[in-house]
Amino acid sequence: MIRELLKVVEGVETSDGAGVKLRRIIGGPELNMFDPFLLFDEFGSDNPDDYMAGFPAHPHRGFETVTYMLNGKFKHKDSSGNEGILTDGSVQWMTAGRGVIHSEMPEKTDGLARGFQLWLNLPKNLKMIDPAYNDIHPDDIPCVLIKQGEVKVISGIFNGVEGPGRPHTGMFYFDIKLNAGGFIEFPVDDLWNTFIYVYSGSANIENRRVYKGQLGLFKDSGMIKFSAEDSSNLRCVVIGGEPLNEPVARGGPFVMNTKAEIMKAFSDYQEGVLTK
Ligand code: FE2
Repeated sequence: MIRELLKVVEGVETSDGAGVKLRRIIGGPELNMFDPFLLFDEFGSDNPDDYMAGFPAHPHRGFETVTYMLNGKFKHKDSSGNEGILTDGSVQWMTAGRGVIHSEMPEKTDGLARGFQLWLNLPKNLKMIDPAYNDIHPDDIPCVLIKQGEVKVISGIFNGVEGPGRPHTGMFYFDIKLNAGGFIEFPVDDLWNTFIYVYSGSANIENRRVYKGQLGLFKDSGMIKFSAEDSSNLRCVVIGGEPLNEPVARGGPFVMNTKAEIMKAFSDYQEGVLTK
């Protein structure tokens, strides 16, 4: 059985940080979350004015962020002295756990900066774990060649090849390229919430099409199968995860299970003990 599409989401143009323009597809009014995913943004512009202001120091608690840079350079720094640079094709896997305060600042390159940020929820019993960073170099992301394209395995397992991302819950993250007219098919655990986001070309899924800039939510059982249209190559990410099925309380940069825990996160931040 092939997974059908449940819904196609367009996302909204918005801005975040110090005014960085981005497209919010999960975490906005149209689709608040897709358990365990709390947010999915595409940032992309060839005008440095749209992104140079970056994301100055801000806190997080209670989840993980996965930033995948397709192009461009981002420098990150945090309150405990961790520092790193994200370049073309690299991934930053940050586990905020009980608390980080960090900045994410772009460096001017040839104009184009493009990538994705995903927020992956942590279950109740792991929300207050130690924070961690994992900067993943592009060379450490395996690329599996398939008949009609390739799959970069950022996290999870594709055709027996495991990616370097280390989530705290069941999830996978693939960056897929299909040649014009090509198709791909792979299994995903039943009940895992899985989506496709197309960033070049368009994807055919059963009788429906997902165009560039659109996100398609799959139903929760069956194989994932889709194809590229005949006239152009397809580039997309396909991301899936096991739903946590826990209450979610959001407050800006904090995601906990209850309102009281959100209030506590704000007061810990104000008192300077968020990361303690
Ligand atoms: Fe952040």
